[in-house]
Amino acid sequence: MTMTSSFSTSSSAYAPTNVKNITVFGSGLMGAGIVQVAAQNAFNVTMVDLNPEALKKGQDIITSSLKRIAKKQFPEDADKQKEFIDKTMSKIKISTDSEAASKDADLIVEAIVENLKTKQQLFAMLDKVAPEHTLFCSNTSSLPIEEIAKATKRADRFGGLHFFNPVPQMKLVEVIRTNETSQDSFDSLMDVCTRMKKTPVSCKDTPGFIVNRLLVPYMMESLRIVERGEATPQDVDTAMKLGAGFPMGPFELADFVGLDTMKFIVDGWRKDGKIDANLVAPVKLLEELVAQGNLGRKSGQGFYPYNGVAGKK
Ligand code: NAI
Repeated sequence: MTMTSSFSTSSSAYAPTNVKNITVFGSGLMGAGIVQVAAQNAFNVTMVDLNPEALKKGQDIITSSLKRIAKKQFPEDADKQKEFIDKTMSKIKISTDSEAASKDADLIVEAIVENLKTKQQLFAMLDKVAPEHTLFCSNTSSLPIEEIAKATKRADRFGGLHFFNPVPQMKLVEVIRTNETSQDSFDSLMDVCTRMKKTPVSCKDTPGFIVNRLLVPYMMESLRIVERGEATPQDVDTAMKLGAGFPMGPFELADFVGLDTMKFIVDGWRKDGKIDANLVAPVKLLEELVAQGNLGRKSGQGFYPYNGVAGKK
């Protein structure tokens, strides 16, 4: 058996796309990060969101991040810092007009809310207005790519590009191919990642892909250790950092990801039934913290307090 036996290897009628223009839907944490990295690497990018305020937020995320990078790259040279920021920003257009923003796109990356129906509605509309050659992909963390692609008539030009937060810092992208994704489309997606100076890995369209499939059950088991009174969150985190060489312990990571996001993923998998039920069994501690609104860094309190300042323990 070959590893790719169930994939479509057909050359689609649409040649491997030499992607130049990327349109990103969603200017939140992930969308803004993807836009930034694409612009830094010479793609022409359009960032789309529902309203101007959301776009402004996205632009702010990008400018703060670029300022940090510029200071690091050119520590003593204000002119070079400015040149780097201006050059990157000049590659970015913004829009609230989804249709117009898709007309020239070679690749559309969707990073909107994690809701299947909303994503399907967006892609059904885009399928009608985007050029035939345009590749579609979703940055979803937990929804099946195949289900999202069903809203379109271009399953062969549809895949997943799963970036990690924070996008400018995290090197990995999981490139997801469904059974319908053509070889040409897959090759183009891998090529885009490399040109964004990311390291792509390939995975089938399975729950959690590679990283979350391994990470989320591990984090749930860490919660169970604490719930059974066997160790404290601090001791579990120290153990995994110093004993397993992980850069963050599972509780620090859960606070970073957001406890609501973690619960959302586990609840979805449980409902879906594709993963061993024991791995995704509910944990009271998590349910309680989420019900209390203690969601991690973003709310100022999770397993650890953050002094009311997001990101600062
Ligand atoms: P976010 O909530 O920060 O941003 C979502 C943005 O999408 C908002 O600005 C919202 O106004 C916009 N939006 C909603 N519907 C839209 C539409 N129809 N057209 C245009 N814009 C629309 O969300 P975040 O965290 O950036 O996540 C986005 C996607 O990335 C989700 O699918 C999530 O699962 C995935 N993801 C999130 C990660 C994370 O750590 N936050 C990591 C990897 C993937």
